[in-house]
Amino acid sequence: MTGSAAAGTTRRTASGGEAAVRVTGLRKSFPGKGGRVEALRGVDLSVPAGQIYGFLGPNGAGKTTALRILTTLLRADAGEVVVAGLDVGSHPAAVRRRIGYVGQRGGADIEATGRENLVLQGRLYGMGRHETERRADELIERLDLAPFCERIARTYSGGQRRRLEVALGIVHRPDVLFLDEPTLGLDPQNRANLWDQLRRLRDAGTTVLLTTHYLDEADRLSDRVAIIDHGLVVAEGTPEELRGRYPAAVTITPRPGFADLAAVAALLGREPLVREARIDGETIRVDLDSATTGMAAIFALLRARGVEVQGVSLREPSLDDVFLHETGRSLRDAGAPPAMEAIAS
Ligand SMILES: Nc1ncnc2c1ncn2[C@@H]1O[C@H](COP(=O)(O)OP(=O)(O)OP(=O)(O)O)[C@@H](O)[C@H]1O
Ligand SMILES: [Mg+2]
Repeated sequence: MTGSAAAGTTRRTASGGEAAVRVTGLRKSFPGKGGRVEALRGVDLSVPAGQIYGFLGPNGAGKTTALRILTTLLRADAGEVVVAGLDVGSHPAAVRRRIGYVGQRGGADIEATGRENLVLQGRLYGMGRHETERRADELIERLDLAPFCERIARTYSGGQRRRLEVALGIVHRPDVLFLDEPTLGLDPQNRANLWDQLRRLRDAGTTVLLTTHYLDEADRLSDRVAIIDHGLVVAEGTPEELRGRYPAAVTITPRPGFADLAAVAALLGREPLVREARIDGETIRVDLDSATTGMAAIFALLRARGVEVQGVSLREPSLDDVFLHETGRSLRDAGAPPAMEAIAS
């Protein structure tokens, strides 16, 4: 039932579609100045095995609290948490052997070299010396640690340190890897590199659960996302599903004098793919269910009516629209740092 400490041969047991993590009715509060702080107010979720799963939410949403409970570092007030088939409350030690955890501040010994850190970590998990040495070599290659792994970790750049920490989290071949804000403060290149490493881990069968407050990270890296706010999951699904619930917005600026805005807006509003068309200053704003087919229909109609167009802009829905709809606030204004530059994945 439980993985052995020297988990050299363990691979994930959960077959495709099975949940690697199941959370039901999770609650946690902390003592605070003006009464108790309800960090988690009844969280339910299910993380499919072999996927990258993102917890997206603003500062104070409860992401770290949830992660600490899932990784046995903190006890829940109420609720059930099953990780890799084991109840976290009743089998914390067995859960710990099946998971890896990369905390927000990381756990590397900065006075030891990268290689020494890896070997020490393997030994702490009860792996044999030779096996640990082999595993360290393997991880040094897989996570591109070779150029710096013989130096002490104090001298590493942020990205190098992060890569070492991920390697430390997976020395013992965990079924589930948890990472708290893994790319916080990384430059775009290091961020892209880490995304790559996490995808490779996922492709090799590890379930990866990470917290983030970067919209693009949740959107492009995660197979599924739970949007968390004030201790509750406000939306859950694949990024495509979540975005697909909201319309794409097209703004059309007709050439001055070439159209009666009100008449054109009314016409557009009757198109089947148009949810709504309204006048906004000198422009017409059209909400579409589908950007691609909807745009074609709009242009056909404008051409048929002889409306000359000066400019068109399209904004496809983002996870921020989902957050905005569910909470009334934008994630960008709700305590998230400014979005980082979009980077190639
Ligand atoms: N040990 C604690 N004692 C008191 N309050 C706490 C403690 N840990 C967390 N909290 C509170 O619980 C709430 C959730 O915090 P948590 O750290 O889980 O948020 P988060 O989503 O990880 O935020 P961030 O994005 O800033 O890391 C916050 O209001 C926080 O102040
Ligand atoms: Mg946090």
